[in-house]
Amino acid sequence: MKTEILKIEDLSTQEKDISRAAEIICRGGLVVFPTETVYGIGGNGTDAAAATAIYRAKGRPSDNPLILHLETPEQAEKYAITNETYYKLAAQFMPGPLTVILPKKDTVPSTVTGGLDTVALRCPAHPVANALIRAAGVPIAAPSANLSGKPSPTLAAHVIDDLSGKVDMIIDGGASEVGLESTIVSLDGEVGTLLRPGAITYDALCCVCKEVRVAPAVLEGLAKNERPLSPGMKYRHYAPRATLTLLDGDDSSIKAFMRSVATTKGIGLLCYNEEIPLLPTDSTLFPVGAQDDLATQAHRLFAVLREADDHPNITTLYAHLPPKDGLGLALYNRLIRAAAHTIKKV
Ligand code: TXA
Ligand code: MG
Repeated sequence: MKTEILKIEDLSTQEKDISRAAEIICRGGLVVFPTETVYGIGGNGTDAAAATAIYRAKGRPSDNPLILHLETPEQAEKYAITNETYYKLAAQFMPGPLTVILPKKDTVPSTVTGGLDTVALRCPAHPVANALIRAAGVPIAAPSANLSGKPSPTLAAHVIDDLSGKVDMIIDGGASEVGLESTIVSLDGEVGTLLRPGAITYDALCCVCKEVRVAPAVLEGLAKNERPLSPGMKYRHYAPRATLTLLDGDDSSIKAFMRSVATTKGIGLLCYNEEIPLLPTDSTLFPVGAQDDLATQAHRLFAVLREADDHPNITTLYAHLPPKDGLGLALYNRLIRAAAHTIKKV
């Protein structure tokens, strides 16, 4: 399949291009589009065949459900059984990087939900995503636009690497601002369960929901024989080619450890910007941002993991273990998966 790359320079003058992309969706094709979190690979969310094509293009198991992307929160009425807490969350955080799981209606093909009787809904804030959903006139089913097991794409170049020849169109809308996938909360009445942390933090959810539980798999691996609350939890995620180890300790011990291994052949360090001048000039560094700037670290994490993957000689990577509060929880959740839960105390 030939993949068209459509660059959006100025959305206000590119209505025709968006209409063409929407036509592809409506006739059952696949369009990769930018969102504020990561890029998504989209198809008609009311068409089971389009969902099947998405699973195939990504190499994703078909029991791992897709998120339905809506133009407005109210469109949820057609696809899910909503409740008061859903609308409270929507008023605060939609459009934005939040996905809510609710009981599904029959309008959603079970192929989209991987056979589950619930559906994941999200209203992206990115203007290109919003324009595409509006023009298509159908909800767009879209997982992250990476090959299964690779870091989610935050640049069109990442998508081109993974999916060129496998989708009809890739819309290049520049770098995804947040850089980590949406926060996912499952709603059962007033109680929420956090299934995946993201830019909408646990504390922010607690301001709206009566109670928010954190699914154990957010912080740890699934226990043996544990039934995952979200099918995605049971699959290997964000796996870099090199072995990644997270360093746990105080700042000075981590710096000392990094300095001691920095020039060893095959080692790469995901370091803070402030550490660059403290490490040997011939070490291989992948700066993630300033130590206190978690937003930049989130924005850069997946791009940095891909850069490290593309580096010919790196076999071992070390990174800081992020804090578990605020946006740190989302970074922690992604990094412990990328590291297959390998943490070294220093
Ligand atoms: O930011 C995002 O959410 C991006 C952009 C493109 O919107 N999308 C994304 O989709 O990250 P995906 O498919 O890579 O991750 C969605 C996760 C999966 O782990 C899946 O198992 C889970 O959501 N999920 C989807 N529907 C679910 C459901 N009904 N119940 C539990 N988990 C569900
Ligand atoms: Mg994904």
